[in-house]
Amino acid sequence: MPTTFTIKTYGCQMNERDSEALACLLEMHGFQEVHQEAEADVMIFNTCSVRDQAERKVLGKVGLMKRLKRERPDLVLGIIGCMAQRRGESLLQELPHLDFVAGTDQLQNVPRLVEECLARKGRPCAVEMGPGVFRELDGHRPGRLIAEVSVMRGCDQFCTYCIVPFCRGREKSRPIPDIVEEARMLAETGTKELLLLGQNITAYGVSEARARGEYTPEYSAFAELLEALQEVPGIQRIRFTSPHVRFMNRRFVEAVSSLSKVCPSFHVPLQSGSDRILKLMHRNYTAAEYLDRIQALRERLPQATFSTDIIVGFCSETEEEFEMTHEMMRKVGYDMAYIFRYSQREGTQAAKTLPDDVPDDVKHRRNQILLEELARHVKAANAAAVGTLAQVLVEGPSPRNPRRWCGRSLTNKMVLFSPDPALTPGTLADFRIVHATENALYGEPARTTPPCA
Ligand code: SAH
Ligand code: SF4
Ligand code: F3S
Repeated sequence: MPTTFTIKTYGCQMNERDSEALACLLEMHGFQEVHQEAEADVMIFNTCSVRDQAERKVLGKVGLMKRLKRERPDLVLGIIGCMAQRRGESLLQELPHLDFVAGTDQLQNVPRLVEECLARKGRPCAVEMGPGVFRELDGHRPGRLIAEVSVMRGCDQFCTYCIVPFCRGREKSRPIPDIVEEARMLAETGTKELLLLGQNITAYGVSEARARGEYTPEYSAFAELLEALQEVPGIQRIRFTSPHVRFMNRRFVEAVSSLSKVCPSFHVPLQSGSDRILKLMHRNYTAAEYLDRIQALRERLPQATFSTDIIVGFCSETEEEFEMTHEMMRKVGYDMAYIFRYSQREGTQAAKTLPDDVPDDVKHRRNQILLEELARHVKAANAAAVGTLAQVLVEGPSPRNPRRWCGRSLTNKMVLFSPDPALTPGTLADFRIVHATENALYGEPARTTPPCA
């Protein structure tokens, strides 16, 4: 009987992608993945540190495993990912029932660590990071219509509130031919859409270009990557997350607006609408520069939609400054936004130099106001879509209501429709939008040809 494992993933899409690649690697080593915790011989928690709540959630969950471990002493428990990187050895001291810890650059060593634990050779902790340590894993679950591809790791931006550069290390970009090869392999196994991942994806290739002395503000290796991926047969759509305004130069704007496979929906983190707060956050752009980039994309792609990340209640944020963020939301009209209350992270520049002085109830209220603003806009935007055409990549039964099928439009809107034998998963089809709610659009197959949105 093979040893079974399960991976529980917290945090962002990069963690989701790492978990997928790790699962493939463990399977190559003879382990078998199961989805029920009770059936697993090895339980791995891939963790996030971005906000305090994210860490507390995992610690609570692993804490609960103490009883299970008493009942099943052979069970192997491991913590990997960002919290593992940040806390290292101290996790083994804090959680005596934990068997191993592996940092973000140690994925390729996890099978060996698990073997050591199964052989009861101690409680290993591997958190080494840095140049030459990490090898990108390219394993994917077969048959993914939409596949995530990690094109770079780490972040050099060091926003003052953010723990990610400490958990994921310095920016390292994969060579274009490696990524193209992975995309080809995916296309051959049925992938139609790529979601390219990087914490600061518009800085793709920048640290390597700087090291070669070739970096200029007009340079965009990311544009070159998109151009190379445009040529991969079988790939129909390309999305990416997250760009940073600082590197969204003209070359980038021209590439994303001229390449037919790049979808006109962009996740552009704003964080704040106040220039003073943006400066304190070390974001390296002003609200006007942000709007200028959105405008440049809208001029070339009038159908484009935008989503964002916002932090409310960052150190010393006044009511007036919060209103500037609110105003930016009204100006851009986001179709989706992740709104966070500032959470102080030990070791960051903000934690060292700026007091976390906005009271919790104020953070809550500001959060609520922006959520209401978002809901208002999305409702109106979805209602306005009724009567238009949308090109949809058919995915299959809707997870919420399997009697309906679903897929996403080019602008990343969920479209629901009645199952139809002609619309198999992976089909690109045009739909006429006949009804809309805040969460989804409802469509009927359109027999006419685009213009599509
Ligand atoms: N690399 C991406 C996102 C990284 S983390 C980017 O630069 O946009 C995802 C989001 O979490 C961030 O965009 C930010 O809005 C939020 N975030 C990061 N650190 C935070 C903190 N200390 N408190 C609250 N939200 C935070
Ligand atoms: Fe964090 Fe800023 Fe890097 Fe995004 S760009 S991961 S917010 S430091
Ligand atoms: Fe969290 Fe790490 Fe992602 S801190 S947001 S899982 S990079």
